[in-house]
Amino acid sequence: MQYSETVMDHFRNPRNVGEIENPDGVGEVGNPKCGDIMKIFIKVEDNRIKDIKFMTFGCGSAIASSSMASEMIKGKTIEEAWNLTNKAVADALEGLPPVKMHCSVLAEEAIHKAINDYRVKQGLEPWETKNYEDIHDHVHG
Ligand code: FES
Repeated sequence: MQYSETVMDHFRNPRNVGEIENPDGVGEVGNPKCGDIMKIFIKVEDNRIKDIKFMTFGCGSAIASSSMASEMIKGKTIEEAWNLTNKAVADALEGLPPVKMHCSVLAEEAIHKAINDYRVKQGLEPWETKNYEDIHDHVHG
């Protein structure tokens, strides 16, 4: 299995690891197939992701994906962060092996949960999410 330099870099030196005290939103997701877990904390100011931290107990691709995703949405508006797809994250990582694509879905799903947690806390309707199970179900080789 081949991993790009960027994947290896984000796996070895993940950015934004940790927890945020009094976060404005938290999203925790697990992949039922492999048991990997990801938790994302966000701080929001003026509708922008002011700060983001994550904790991932999982495979290298999940760690690299959460690290890259956190860098990609930091400073972005809530809407921009919501629209970040797992494919965009995988592209920014210069690709993931096909059997590892589902690992990047964890990051997208955790971000969506954190944003919806934030919205609900603000008294707003949560946004509609995708059916991630189809994506998780795919491959687990
Ligand atoms: Fe479970 Fe990658 S997230 S193998």
